[in-house]
Amino acid sequence: MFSKVARRTFSSSVPSAYKVAVLGANGGIGQPLSLLLKLNTKVTDLALYDLRGAPGVAADCSHIPTNSTVKGYSPENDGLASALKNADVVVIPAGVPRKPGMTRDDLFNTNASIVRDLAKAVAANAPSAKVCIISNPVNSTVPIVAEILKSAGVYDPKKLFGVTTLDILRASRFISEIAGTNPAHEVVNVVGGHSGVTIVPLLSQTQHNLAIKGETRDALIHRIQFGGDEVVQAKDGAGSATLSMAQAGARFAGAILNGLAGEKDVIEASFVDSPLFKSEGVEFFSSNVTLGPEGVAKIHALGELSNAEEALVKVAKETLVDNIAKGVNFVKQNP
Ligand code: NAI
Repeated sequence: MFSKVARRTFSSSVPSAYKVAVLGANGGIGQPLSLLLKLNTKVTDLALYDLRGAPGVAADCSHIPTNSTVKGYSPENDGLASALKNADVVVIPAGVPRKPGMTRDDLFNTNASIVRDLAKAVAANAPSAKVCIISNPVNSTVPIVAEILKSAGVYDPKKLFGVTTLDILRASRFISEIAGTNPAHEVVNVVGGHSGVTIVPLLSQTQHNLAIKGETRDALIHRIQFGGDEVVQAKDGAGSATLSMAQAGARFAGAILNGLAGEKDVIEASFVDSPLFKSEGVEFFSSNVTLGPEGVAKIHALGELSNAEEALVKVAKETLVDNIAKGVNFVKQNP
């Protein structure tokens, strides 16, 4: 029996109730991401799907006493459809990660078809969900999902997100290491895409614009762009960032839920169908986005850039055009 007080506390700690589905929940990212989502009090129904192992992850998470039901699903018995039914948010970290020496683009051949097939299931079973893509290469997998949703007639550009939050986390952390500050207070705008030269940190907009300069600044930009390689090398063949990525994914999914719940001024960067550079042929671009009940409420312009940043954005745009076309062409050739 609960005491009166305990019951009251329980109900008031659940301001909103949402179903979140994680596709790829047994992976290096999927497991800690599922744990962090289990701790989010806006999540009342957590559906964990993977080709293998999701029921175990679900049983494990389900013993944590937060106000959500956790269920694990496998491909058998139409598990994917059941996991997706009535989902408000779908987070996709399914796919293979990098090994040393690989770029994110090297993952394309394997991950493109995984993401395409999962997108088809989303279109059929959760057509109005907010969809957050973690699977790399994000610059190409997000356009793949868009094409699949378009051909199913359910595409809403406000509801599709490429998760670039890890670049923001890294930028905050790496800046703080140079400036000797608290990384939790370092706000950095990182725009463009999610791979190498498409990742553009706008250091001129930080409080360290004048303080971090010259070679230190160049090295910092390079570290933010290629920080993922540090993890890939340190793991020595066992994969790429999983724990920091889970934190980034949970932060982003949490922001989506805050927007859904109608909270004000919820802003995160994301790789979205963006008007910013469409006239130059760049259909998707990452910048700050205000999130609301419909998903994207407002896409923010980049703000003032230094000449050096203008040059970085130019390179990012050129690379993104190719990355995006690669995703779109994949779906044309492999519908
Ligand atoms: P992992 O190999 O540990 O886990 C992937 C999981 O996906 C496995 O459990 C596997 O069974 C599952 N899976 C594969 N095909 C599936 C399908 N058709 N349906 C459902 N599940 C399926 O890989 P990890 O480390 O979790 O990375 C996952 C993806 O996330 C990779 O593509 C990686 O490159 C990407 N990533 C993205 C980041 C970002 O910032 N957006 C950062 C780090 C990694």
